[in-house]
Amino acid sequence: MAYTVPKLTDYSTAALDRATRDLLSALEEESAAVRTEPEYEALRIRWRARKDGIVTQVNDLWLKTAPRQAKRNVGQKVNEVILSRVDAVLQERHDHVKNLGILEKARAAGLDAELDAARCAVELAESIDITLPGVRRPIGAEHPIIRTSNEIVSVFQKLGYSVADGPIVETDYYNFEALNFPPNHPARDTQDTLFIANQQSKPQRERLLLRTHTSPVQIRTMEKMRPPIRIVIPGQVHRNDPPDASHSPMFHQIEGLAVDTNITFGDLKGTLDHAMKELFGSSVKTSFRPSFFPFTEPSAELYVTCFVCGGSGKRGTEPCRPCKQTGWMEVLGCGMVDPNVFEFVKDNGYDPKKVSGFAFGMGVDRLALLKYGVDDLQLFFQGDVRFLQQFS
Ligand code: PHE
Repeated sequence: MAYTVPKLTDYSTAALDRATRDLLSALEEESAAVRTEPEYEALRIRWRARKDGIVTQVNDLWLKTAPRQAKRNVGQKVNEVILSRVDAVLQERHDHVKNLGILEKARAAGLDAELDAARCAVELAESIDITLPGVRRPIGAEHPIIRTSNEIVSVFQKLGYSVADGPIVETDYYNFEALNFPPNHPARDTQDTLFIANQQSKPQRERLLLRTHTSPVQIRTMEKMRPPIRIVIPGQVHRNDPPDASHSPMFHQIEGLAVDTNITFGDLKGTLDHAMKELFGSSVKTSFRPSFFPFTEPSAELYVTCFVCGGSGKRGTEPCRPCKQTGWMEVLGCGMVDPNVFEFVKDNGYDPKKVSGFAFGMGVDRLALLKYGVDDLQLFFQGDVRFLQQFS
C-alpha cells in the first residue's frame, strides 16, 4: 500500500519520531525501485511537488496543526530531518538513474570504455563489496645511501654505541672553533665551506654555515651527556665541490666518538678493525696511516684492502680502478680526541687530565657507489624513480 501522510494527533517526541521513521522508510523503499528518468520524475513530484507533494503535506498536516508548545519541536524535525533527508535521497537516486542511463546507451552503442565506467558507477552505488582488495599504494624503499648508512650505524650499535644527531645549518663555533680550528687557521681552508649570507654583523663564532662534517655533533653531544659516551652520528654535510661523477656539494658522513677513562689508540684500532671486518668481510686488512686533523692528535687515515679487487690492484688482467691499482682504499679519518677539544666541554665532566677518547668520520656516499656498482654519484640525488626502483 502506498504511503500516505497521517494526521498527527499526538505531538510527543516519541510519536513524532515514529511518524518520521515511517515516512523515511517509505521514501527509501520507493526510491530503491526507481530505475528510469520518468520513474524518477514521478518520485520527485510525489515527494517534492510544491502543491500537495508529501513534504508539503507534512507541513500542512504536522506543522501547521501543531499546538503552540509543540511547534518548535515539530518544525525542527520537519526542516532538519525530513526536508534534508528527502532531498539527499532524491539527489542520490537521480545520480544513480543517470548512470544507469549511460550504461544503457553505452551498451546499445557497444562503447567499451564508457560501458566500463558506467558499470563501475552503478556497481558502486548498488553495493560496496568489502571483500574486494583495497586501493594499493606502492610502498617506498630505503634510499641506497640511507641503507648503507644504516648498515654502518648498526655495526656500531652492536658494540653498544648509540645514535646522536645535530643541525645541518651550524655555527662557526661548533663546526670550527670548538674543534680546535682557531679563527684564520689554514686548516679551515681544507673544508671548502659554504657560508650563509649576511652574517657579518654577528661575532664570528655565531655566524651560520652549512656544516662541512658531522664532527660538530661531537661537541654538541658532549655538552649534553657526561662521560662515558659512545655515539655514532650519521648525517648530511656540505662542501663547495662542483657536482660530477664522484663529487657532490651535499654528501653523507658517519661520525663516531668514544670517551671514557683510559681510552687508548689500541681501542681505536681494535674497534675500527672489527667494524671494517663486519662491513667488508672478515678477510679485509686495515692500515692506519699518519694524517692531520685539528681536533685529533695523533690523527690517522684508515685504509682497507680494496674490496673490489681483494687487494691485488687488478681485476683479471685489467687494472682495478676504484683503488687506482694500489690494492688499498681510504675509508675514514680518525684519531685520539685532542685535549684542546675537551677544554671546550671541560665543565661537563671532560677534564682532559681525566678522560681520553677517540673519534672517526667516514664518508658514506662513495661506499654506497662501490657497494651497488653505480658509476655516477649524481644518480643518487636526482630522484629519478627508474634509478631508485632498482634498489627496492
Ligand atoms: N671530520 C673529518 C672530515 O670530515 C673526519 C674525522 C672525524 C677525522 C673524526 C678525525 C676524527 O674529514
